[in-house]
Amino acid sequence: MAEKKKFQAIKGTRDLLPPETELWNRVEQTAREVFGTFGFGEIRPPIFEKTRLFERAVGSETDIVSKEMFNWVDDPDLSGAITKIRAEMRNTKTLPAVDGTAARAMLEKQARMGAFNNLAERVRVALRPEVTASVCRAYIEHEMHALPQPVKLYYTGPMFRRERPQKGRYRQFYQIGAEVLEMVPPNQDPAKNIEKDAAVDAEVIEMVMAFFARLGLEGVKLEINSIGDRECRPKYVELLRAELMKVKDKLGPDSQRRIETNPLRVLDSKLESEQTIIAGLPKIADHLCANCAGQYAEVKRQLGMRGVVFEENWRLVRGLDYYMRTTFEITARGLGSQNAVCGGGRYDGLVELLGGPPTKGIGFAIGEDRLILSLQEAGKGGVAQGRDVFVAWMGEKAQATAIAAAQKLRAAGFRVELPPVEQKFGKALGQADKLGARYALILGDDEIATGQWTVKTLADGSQTKMSEAEFLEMLRKSL
Ligand code: HAM
Repeated sequence: MAEKKKFQAIKGTRDLLPPETELWNRVEQTAREVFGTFGFGEIRPPIFEKTRLFERAVGSETDIVSKEMFNWVDDPDLSGAITKIRAEMRNTKTLPAVDGTAARAMLEKQARMGAFNNLAERVRVALRPEVTASVCRAYIEHEMHALPQPVKLYYTGPMFRRERPQKGRYRQFYQIGAEVLEMVPPNQDPAKNIEKDAAVDAEVIEMVMAFFARLGLEGVKLEINSIGDRECRPKYVELLRAELMKVKDKLGPDSQRRIETNPLRVLDSKLESEQTIIAGLPKIADHLCANCAGQYAEVKRQLGMRGVVFEENWRLVRGLDYYMRTTFEITARGLGSQNAVCGGGRYDGLVELLGGPPTKGIGFAIGEDRLILSLQEAGKGGVAQGRDVFVAWMGEKAQATAIAAAQKLRAAGFRVELPPVEQKFGKALGQADKLGARYALILGDDEIATGQWTVKTLADGSQTKMSEAEFLEMLRKSL
């Protein structure tokens, strides 16, 4: 018989298994607790959204949207029709154009294709590559501007980006993130709120750092920057573009392309040969307008007041289009080249761009996979394993007592393994050992007759007799 090929998880995706999932749960639980103390509530948006939402929010030209999104036309008839016309068009191309018939057919098909593409535009959906866009969409959809402001939301869950998988980089990965949204009251003078915005930025950053500290994450480094606003950034970008044009020949192909599409991203380059050139480029901090410079200074002062240690990095520009002013990234130990464990920043105006009222926003997302990896590398990934009690029983009467004991112990919160069928004591104790049980509760005819249970401590092999009540008491004290 031919051997059946085994299925494997798709490249860049993976199964998270016990006992590691215990650590994931602990991390998420800690996030809930810490974020809760800062007044954040949970939002659970859907995992897929209209493709247009991410194009508009994150930016069509960004790598995330232009290269890495999993998206499809969510109408089987339409996507089938498009595939069919594409195939027809390919065939028409291979026909010899003797009398122009083929050319005419081609034109006709192109027109149909165009019409279909317009329809398809409306039904394109994508697996979410991030959640900030969804949170803003939800803020508008549920009219959250009418709630007491600011609205503070956090989320956890899977994201999808078609990236080249490597250590700490997956196609399905998990984020823990938070966003603070606040509608701007009509006629508010933006300059007046620099101090308030800076305090919000600093508190959001303080919250991530408190979360990491609670987990005992090691080698945490916070870098901050200001990338200006609609007033000062375009001028800086033009200046940068002009300077980059002067050294274009010395740059690699990616940076050369970015001079046109997004010169700021050149500052992100890790290419060794470009480092000295980049070091000599004009710095945005020297070109911020008065409001942006004022807010940046205040963010630094506020972080200082909160005891948050940071470094400034003028090259920190982030790969999503919605940011303005404050941006930040946090790296941690043990992650190799993919060492950014958190990224975030301010995005005033994004809600408006998506059709909502003028609204301020600031948030971050933590890469949970990387966070877990870093904790494990530092030996902080330990989780409680095994069982508290293995119930080794023999005989029909003993089974009834064993079931009742297991029910009581589980109700009291202990982890109990109850074999479904009778086992010889030797075999049962071997299994208890393999499962990492702390105690074996031995129930045979003797124990049932006397009401004195035999309790074996597996670590040292010692054995004692005690009543049910005494056993429960001992468990409570020892675990
Ligand atoms: P981001 O920098 O694209 O920002 O992602 C945030 C974090 O997600 C990264 O620092 C990294 O830890 C993790 N991450 C990203 N891609 C992958 C991947 N392929 N595999 C594993 N981990 C990954 C955002 O997503 C913004 N929405 C953050 C934000 C929220 N800004 C404001 N609010």
